[in-house]
Amino acid sequence: MKVIVTKDYEEMSDAAFEIMSKTVSENPRAVLGLATGSTPLGLYSRMVADHEKNGTSYKEIKTVNLDEYIGLDSDNKESYAYFMRKNLFDFIDIKKENTNIEDGTAEDFSAECERYNALLSVLRQDIQVLGLGSNGHIAFNEPGTPFDSVTHVVSLSESTIKDNSRLFDSIDDVPKKAFTMGLSNIMNAKKIIILASGENKAKAVYGMVKGKICVDVPASILQNHADTTLICDASAAKLIEEFVK
Ligand code: F6R
Repeated sequence: MKVIVTKDYEEMSDAAFEIMSKTVSENPRAVLGLATGSTPLGLYSRMVADHEKNGTSYKEIKTVNLDEYIGLDSDNKESYAYFMRKNLFDFIDIKKENTNIEDGTAEDFSAECERYNALLSVLRQDIQVLGLGSNGHIAFNEPGTPFDSVTHVVSLSESTIKDNSRLFDSIDDVPKKAFTMGLSNIMNAKKIIILASGENKAKAVYGMVKGKICVDVPASILQNHADTTLICDASAAKLIEEFVK
């Protein structure tokens, strides 16, 4: 795994944008695997600014998102579909029909997982953006998730519900289940960038980069991926400093 340590969140977002922008300019028909959460917001705002300033086009780009809460429709402000529109898709020239995410309102969970897996088998990510959970999760693959997992339904762990409650009015409003791409869908991406910012991610960063590859730290599987770059700020890199200097 390549590791880039930046001074702060802004530099982390600059470095992520540089890689994303190269992918899009080299292949205007690329498939982008995207994440929600606080971490990629700086990357998305840079994509929007670049589209406005330089006219970078997303007309032929397709996207696949990692995960979606079960029970929330795409107009619900807490849904990941809404998040993607309000932080990226509404401000670039991407065609809405080219953006893909699991359907949080699907009633037949296994049919929805099958639909998404079939879609991912044709839309292989040229680049996959990931954030890192403080417990080492990627997408909603919580500790214990098998490495060969594909899109499935998860019951969110207490720590993830707690971490995500900051975006809801109350912790009781956080959905308890979600659809998520599996670890093997993520590992299938041609290139992966995983972003981490802040000291609360330092332990997970250490486990991912230096720990044993094991299901207790789902992100540790990325050590086996041929083209993964971790971009993290100095606080998130606190426990791996001695290895990257
Ligand atoms: C989001 C996702 C999650 C987040 C992770 C970090 O689509 O799949 O794995 O990337 O929980 O979240 P933030 O960036 O909010 O710290």
